[in-house]
Amino acid sequence: MNDKDVEIEYLKKIELVKKYNRYYYDKNKPIISDQKFDLLKIDITNLEKKYKFLKSEYSPTKSVGFKPSKSFQKSKHKFPMLSLGNAFNEEDLKNFEKKINNFLSLKEINIIDYSAEPKIDGISASLIYINGKFTKGLSRGDGAEGEDITQNLKTINDIPPDITVKNFPKEIDIRGEVFIENNDFKTINEKFANPRNAASGSLRQKDPVITAKIPLKFIAYTYGYAEEMNIHSQTDFLKNLKIWGFKINPFNKKISGIKNLIKNHKDLEEKRKEIAFDIDGVVYKVNDFNLQRRLGFAANAPRWAIAHKFSANSSISDIINIEIQIGRTGALTPVAKIKPVNIGGVIVSNATLHNEDEIIRKDIRIGDTVTVERAGDVIPHVISVDIKKRNKNSKKFIFPLNCPCCGSMTVKDYNEVTKKQDAVRRCVSEGYECEKIAIEKIKHFVSKEAFNIDGFGKKIVENFWNLKLIRLPQDIFNLNFDKIEKLEGWGKLSVTNLKFSINQKKKISLDRFIYSLGIRHIGQENAKIIARYLKTVINFFKLPDDKNIESLSNIDGIGNTQIQSIKKFFLNKTNIKVLSELGRNIKIENTVLINNKGLLKNKTFMLTGKLNGVSRAEAKSLIEQNSGKIISNVNKKLDYLIAGEKPTTRKVNIAKELNIKVINQKEWMEMLNKTS
Ligand code: IVH
Repeated sequence: MNDKDVEIEYLKKIELVKKYNRYYYDKNKPIISDQKFDLLKIDITNLEKKYKFLKSEYSPTKSVGFKPSKSFQKSKHKFPMLSLGNAFNEEDLKNFEKKINNFLSLKEINIIDYSAEPKIDGISASLIYINGKFTKGLSRGDGAEGEDITQNLKTINDIPPDITVKNFPKEIDIRGEVFIENNDFKTINEKFANPRNAASGSLRQKDPVITAKIPLKFIAYTYGYAEEMNIHSQTDFLKNLKIWGFKINPFNKKISGIKNLIKNHKDLEEKRKEIAFDIDGVVYKVNDFNLQRRLGFAANAPRWAIAHKFSANSSISDIINIEIQIGRTGALTPVAKIKPVNIGGVIVSNATLHNEDEIIRKDIRIGDTVTVERAGDVIPHVISVDIKKRNKNSKKFIFPLNCPCCGSMTVKDYNEVTKKQDAVRRCVSEGYECEKIAIEKIKHFVSKEAFNIDGFGKKIVENFWNLKLIRLPQDIFNLNFDKIEKLEGWGKLSVTNLKFSINQKKKISLDRFIYSLGIRHIGQENAKIIARYLKTVINFFKLPDDKNIESLSNIDGIGNTQIQSIKKFFLNKTNIKVLSELGRNIKIENTVLINNKGLLKNKTFMLTGKLNGVSRAEAKSLIEQNSGKIISNVNKKLDYLIAGEKPTTRKVNIAKELNIKVINQKEWMEMLNKTS
């Protein structure tokens, strides 16, 4: 072995340590026995002794045991802790603003003010204050449910225990970031990869006395819910936070116009090193709370905010091979296997090449020297090829025309929206027939947004697949635990944990269930609106009967692409088998409408023509927020046809024939107690 190979071997072992630690500390689910972990540490120590040039800040020889608690009480967030969409460049920002303008039906001359706040790279926390008293503190957890870390949060000086300021809301959930300043990070003895991990480790200590020893800081920036709060913009809210005794980010600014956002982003990126704590981008929030309310939330993130990340780190490496990965929807994705390189503290050995067109456009070949970029949690990708370094004998990469897994034909779909052929090539097999697609479908099934089976990660799916323990999603509910217990790395405790996590998920909401099936074009948002429309799983199972699937076109947002995809799904025999067996094994809960007390309760609406100052998307969201339902066909089920400017005469006439009330925008607004 030469030095380079030794280093690669060494870094691989370090990566393993990091992975096992993650499972042990962050997920509370060790995937290796203590003895095996010790052997790995001994291996690393021996390598470091033999080869003096080997060094890694993550080396276990440099770390001291630092065990966080394994059992914090779980507690539901009254209002979920959502994440933010990401923007990487000017175009992403323009799109973000365009969507806002469209949603609010604003002309582009309307200037939107943003609160621009540096994005602190720490751990978010939610602090509940009741009558001015800090009562409960939660970690983010999975966004819906966090851990009760009140005692640990109480040790942080920046968190006021009592607030007596007059205008402080009666009850409020203040949210912000817990972090460690870079200078403090340098002085703490325990070895963590970065300040963020240190903050997380410290906050999750079983013993708050230990938490108190680490200088954690808290900066507040938003709220989950508030009772009796009379504040109308984010910048005013931030000012009040300060008055109430919280620290706020000194670099927060009110800005409008994309050009100014970009300038501020650039200034902050340059200042980044001088700032006392880690920031990884800038968060922009529409400043006006009224506009925020109108914009509302998409599946996981608000429509009124976005995180503009700082530019990525990059490194140079060589392509060892190009492999084709097959995704859940059959997409063939070329992935470059590269010589492992360290990019911003992370060892990277894979980089996506996106699709066939990208390979052709950049003429990427095996053996090429390339620049690889890694931004945040996004998969590293190849940005350019150094043609000068290319070997004379190198050959163009030939993209396979058949699925490398099942041999089926591959096709590029025609995209009806862009009127162009897709850049992505797909395996035509419809699902479980192609092994790779089947594995990906099961990974999707157990994923966080779907069944969310704790501890059932991607690696376990692959492992269980290879051992023939699973072939279809329902197999998860009939696992052979005796066999699993005997597998390497498993034991009584981990099997009990897995059994528990699976049993817990035998009850699922209809929208999650629909999403988990991985029907193409039915993402979280569409699954939600379909579940809301169908209400019961029986209606879902009955979709293939009569013309039920077509009736989904009544749902605003479901079009031909989705209808065709659902039809295809129900035509596949394996899918039917999966559905019926899952139906037998689990309980799928009917959709409960959260707000069914609204002013438009039990009323159905349809829109035709243009509304003044309200986009279709906003009108839809307004109706739904008030418990009304949108349908997109004039039929007997329709209660009101809202006719804006230049309505479709045919629709108005049919409505009149069917005795359906035709109302104008003003009348509709009056129903909502609003004036237009
Ligand atoms: S607002 C729904 N403001 O970024 C709005 N988040 O991906 C959610 N973060 O989990 C958060 N600085 O941990 C907001 N000024 C800021 C922030 C900020 C950092 C973190 C936060 C959140 C993540 C969003």
